[in-house]
Amino acid sequence: MEKLLIKGGNRLSGEIRISGAKNAALPILAATLLTKETAVIKNLPHLHDITTMLELLGCMGVHTVVTEDMSVEINAGTLNNLTAPYSLVKTMRASILVLGPMLAHFGEANVSLPGGCAIGTRPVDLHIRGLEAMGAEIEVVDGYIRAKVNGRLKGAKIFFDTVTVTGTENILMAATLADGVTILENAAKEPEVIDLAHCLNAMGAKITGIGTDTLRIEGVESLHGCTYPILPDRIETGTYLVAAAVTGGKIKLKDTDPTILDAVLTKLREAGAKITTGPDWIELDMEGRRPKSVNITTAPYPAFPTDMQAQFTVLNAIAEGTATVVETVFENRFMHIQELNRMGANAQVSGNTVVIKGCEKLSGAPVMATDLRASASLVIAGLIASGETLVDRVYHIDRGYECIEEKFQNLGGLVSRVVRGAE
Ligand code: EPU
Repeated sequence: MEKLLIKGGNRLSGEIRISGAKNAALPILAATLLTKETAVIKNLPHLHDITTMLELLGCMGVHTVVTEDMSVEINAGTLNNLTAPYSLVKTMRASILVLGPMLAHFGEANVSLPGGCAIGTRPVDLHIRGLEAMGAEIEVVDGYIRAKVNGRLKGAKIFFDTVTVTGTENILMAATLADGVTILENAAKEPEVIDLAHCLNAMGAKITGIGTDTLRIEGVESLHGCTYPILPDRIETGTYLVAAAVTGGKIKLKDTDPTILDAVLTKLREAGAKITTGPDWIELDMEGRRPKSVNITTAPYPAFPTDMQAQFTVLNAIAEGTATVVETVFENRFMHIQELNRMGANAQVSGNTVVIKGCEKLSGAPVMATDLRASASLVIAGLIASGETLVDRVYHIDRGYECIEEKFQNLGGLVSRVVRGAE
């Protein structure tokens, strides 16, 4: 069984390149189902979730060719199966993103309902209600969402009563081929949603209001192929910045985008980090100091991202002072706290809030990864802990961090992949 072995104590320093954003790549790959022409998607991150999405497209008969420079050419003209099976959906919830495009383009889609999830119940009711408002007939039978539409979907005014990232993306994709105008209100404004909207426009869609919470989509009869590069991964960027900050280090991240990380950079500066940025790079220098505690409240973009909550919890665990972290997006995203406390952290969870009293040192321990971002936080904890930390269930990390051990090694972090039995 593969695990990550981390020997703590090294101060991170050096430069690495940031990969393309997983959460932009997944909807953009699904969007290629909207055209029969070839789409070339560039700057694709090399991750398990991306492989799963390509496998899902492949099992529908879609032709995909991955080239050496991590681009993929996709042609959905060969699609011959309108089902996303449970075997793939259960391994990746984002498979639900094929529902909107398949239904809009082919008039039918059968997508397995994603099951429970380590970070909360995560329903998909808003995806279903949005498509129904556009004229789709949807029933849930035998664990599958079976959606059909007679002719084209119809433009509609849809208000999301909760801000949902993949919900906005699903309805946005469907609306590009609908008959008439669709207005999405209280839409998600995450950079990944913006990237998808720009890609759809490059395919011939007519979307305005991009980057605001009201998207207007004038439906067109067909979309065409395009060549589109995925934006840099802001969560991967933030994760390495926090890792450098907790070790007192100095690093430079290249091929990233500082303009989509305001909330995270503000909190790092508040923690005492010196940050300088250029058009596509960020440098963080902690000058060997211990971070100061920072209070965090997660919320949809542009507020502080839930996907950076676990990493900042580790920062607070070794910071000077006491911090409060409030999680408002997912109800059960504190699974890493118990593991951090086993490493010597002093964190108490009460409802959706955790109070963390910073301590000077953590100690290495065998720990269990529970979800993608929680696993990343345990690796960061290992980098500052005394002795060895062994992170189990690394498949969570491989879903969202490209070559994590190589990147940390390039920064001087002692992270290696080992094969060991259950301990
Ligand atoms: N929600 C509903 N009904 C719905 C959809 C969502 O009640 O139909 C609720 C959720 O239960 C949650 C809130 O709305 O409480 C927000 O969930 P959202 O739908 O925005 O999450 P998501 O689209 O499933 C994406 C990312 C997550 C990220 C969240 C929040 C992708 C593939 N996933 O999930 O990324 O945490 O937005 O920003 O884009 C990760 O990368 O580790 C990850 C979990």
